[in-house]
Amino acid sequence: MQRTVAILKPDALQRGVVGEIIHRFERKGLKLMAIKMLSATEAQLEEHYAHHKDKPFFADLKKFMMSTPLVAVVLEGVGAVAEVRRMAGVTSGREAELGSIRGDFSISRSKNIIHVSDSPEAAEEEIVRFFEKSEIYKWDKLHSPYTFAED
Ligand code: CMP
Repeated sequence: MQRTVAILKPDALQRGVVGEIIHRFERKGLKLMAIKMLSATEAQLEEHYAHHKDKPFFADLKKFMMSTPLVAVVLEGVGAVAEVRRMAGVTSGREAELGSIRGDFSISRSKNIIHVSDSPEAAEEEIVRFFEKSEIYKWDKLHSPYTFAED
């Protein structure tokens, strides 16, 4: 089974769509292994968005991400990284397909509601960056054989 991270950004909290987004992950059949609110530190964001540090929007992105707490989850499932990326939609809410999280809840590239891990390796790094070991819960989801079948 694969793990992935989703971080609901300040616009998700301000718009009051946190529950709806978590609900989508649950309905899809993904297993919730961790869920918490956190205030991201500048150091965490500089590491998390290191690949954007030379972009003109970097300072605004950090400010935005520190403007309210965030809601972070760890989700598990077969191919969870790709599934959650598909559910989130492409980066810009203006280009994301209707039916995706960004396509349904965002009309902006910078205020795009959610961050999701872009690879299994990134997911494992993000888990370490944002969660303590004790915050990740291992539990048996009894309907997993019905959700994932042989695959
Ligand atoms: P995220 O998936 O969290 O990864 C980097 C974030 O930078 C992205 O979502 C957007 O919130 C933001 N971002 C990406 N491109 C732009 C841009 N051109 N202008 C402003 N913000 C951007």
